[in-house]
Amino acid sequence: ISKPNHNVNINCENIPYLNNFNGKDQKVYLEIYGCQMNINDAEIICSILKKHNYDIVDDIKKANIILLITCTIRENAEQKIWNKLQNLKYWKKSHVSKIGILGCMAEHLKHKIIAKERIVDIIAGPDSYKDLPRLLYISNDYQSAINVTLSVDETYADVTPIRLNPNSKTAYVSIMRGCNNMCTYCVVPFTRGHEKSRPITNILDEIQQLSDQGIKEIILLGQNVNSYRDISQSNFYMNNNVKTNHSKDFTTIYKNRLGGLRFSDLLDKVSLINSEMRIRFTSPHPKDFPDEVLYLIRERNNICHQIHLPAQSGSNNVLKRMRRGYTKEAYLNLVYHIRSIIPGVRLSSDFIAGFCDETDEDFNETLNLLKEVKYTMAYLYAYSMRDKTSAYRCYIDNINKKIKRARLEKMIKLYRSEAEILYKTQIGQKQLILVDKKSKRSTQSLVGRNDGNIKVIFPDITIPNTNRSLSCKQIKYGDYIVVKITDANSQTLKGVPLYHSSINEFSLNK
Ligand SMILES: *[C@@H]1O[C@H](CO)[C@@H](O)[C@H](O)[C@H]1NC(C)=O
Ligand SMILES: *[C@@H]1O[C@H](CO)[C@@H](O)[C@H](O)[C@H]1NC(C)=O
Ligand SMILES: *[C@@H]1O[C@H](CO)[C@@H](O)[C@H](O)[C@H]1NC(C)=O
Repeated sequence: ISKPNHNVNINCENIPYLNNFNGKDQKVYLEIYGCQMNINDAEIICSILKKHNYDIVDDIKKANIILLITCTIRENAEQKIWNKLQNLKYWKKSHVSKIGILGCMAEHLKHKIIAKERIVDIIAGPDSYKDLPRLLYISNDYQSAINVTLSVDETYADVTPIRLNPNSKTAYVSIMRGCNNMCTYCVVPFTRGHEKSRPITNILDEIQQLSDQGIKEIILLGQNVNSYRDISQSNFYMNNNVKTNHSKDFTTIYKNRLGGLRFSDLLDKVSLINSEMRIRFTSPHPKDFPDEVLYLIRERNNICHQIHLPAQSGSNNVLKRMRRGYTKEAYLNLVYHIRSIIPGVRLSSDFIAGFCDETDEDFNETLNLLKEVKYTMAYLYAYSMRDKTSAYRCYIDNINKKIKRARLEKMIKLYRSEAEILYKTQIGQKQLILVDKKSKRSTQSLVGRNDGNIKVIFPDITIPNTNRSLSCKQIKYGDYIVVKITDANSQTLKGVPLYHSSINEFSLNK
């Protein structure tokens, strides 16, 4: 495996002390692309900039500085950002003084950005956000400032993210950064660097604060949450496969850390902070799914019975070329194992159609897997080759666009029809819903999510305080209510609110 390229571009030799980089109330607008991780990154950036007296604004028209938090996982994602830069030329001519490219595209495309887009003033990679005040300070019309150093230990443990949407009752918490998996199609190890876990105490403190602020749902984020290790106590490495009941079926090419506190320890402690706060996590890698985590999910009412289990393909040939470390059979065994421990668990997944050399038969195996598992949610994509990846170096992107497109459409169609069946089986059920926001379609409706993370739409009416209460109250965001499901399609459930409840009360009466 080749190491990520740690090119550094030093723009300024005499670096004044960091605290001198005062933002003087300049107004910054952040635009976020890509994954949930980028939302959390934006919250970290927000916190760092505010400490240096920058003002964060939510209207681009009021901004002096525009920072794009970018994504490069697929070609479309990247194209959106190139297009945006074209639009921003207009802003740069009027009131915007600086434009920055932050995050994954920064490291990946720094040379291209500078060569192609002279309007970009700063480029900062995912590990150099603390350097942003300096970069903003030293860049000017004649000189752009770049820092795309990837760090072995930066987890922003000492930065408390500032939540961008204070009304939301859901908060994302990064527990680790980077990835060591080296799946051949994936650019993440190159853009976000090596895997590094945040210390557990630090994560627990942040979640305690969020709980105190009234947050009702925590989503723990990491590229591979199951390899989380807080090794601040013990620190030794061994080249070994993960010790689970499935270890013989799953392989990994990187050195697993043993010792220290693991993801199950973290999940255990997080779930005890507030039993009325829902906990979700994403993503685990199928290759290291310890039973402890499964038993914990079953045992704790506030850990949602929903698991994202990215499969990527159903063909063993393709899985091998992707270097996923499991076969279709091993993946299916894990699915059955999970279902035997957590009956009724909802599974979601990621799939890629048209990876290098994928044949019709290979693709058919993917369809078969989708059909067999029946996911409540699936993120489906046509393959787009990213440079720097092993696939870029070793394989040929030889499935033409039309075929990729056709396969993607087939996957979507099959997934949707299976999801619709799955959703329709929920009609008649009484489910605990966490109320999220107003429905986009109708002002008289609200939207929430059930334990399985499926969207539920219901009318905004006054309902009894509890199951047996005679007095009623309105439904507010962040309330838990019991909804009777009355209708379903392939994307949402519809229902009628019955009464207010809580995680504990609902699980007692189940
Ligand atoms: C880039 O940013 C990191 C993190 O803030 C910092 O440690 C490093 O010194 C910076 N690199 C340069 C060349 O200034
Ligand atoms: C394997 O699974 C069984 C039950 O399915 C459990 O009792 C045992 O502890 C597990 N072993 C490991 C190493 O996880
Ligand atoms: C795909 O699988 C189905 C059965 O699941 C089979 O009828 C069909 O012939 C297969 N197609 C190819 C191209 O292998």
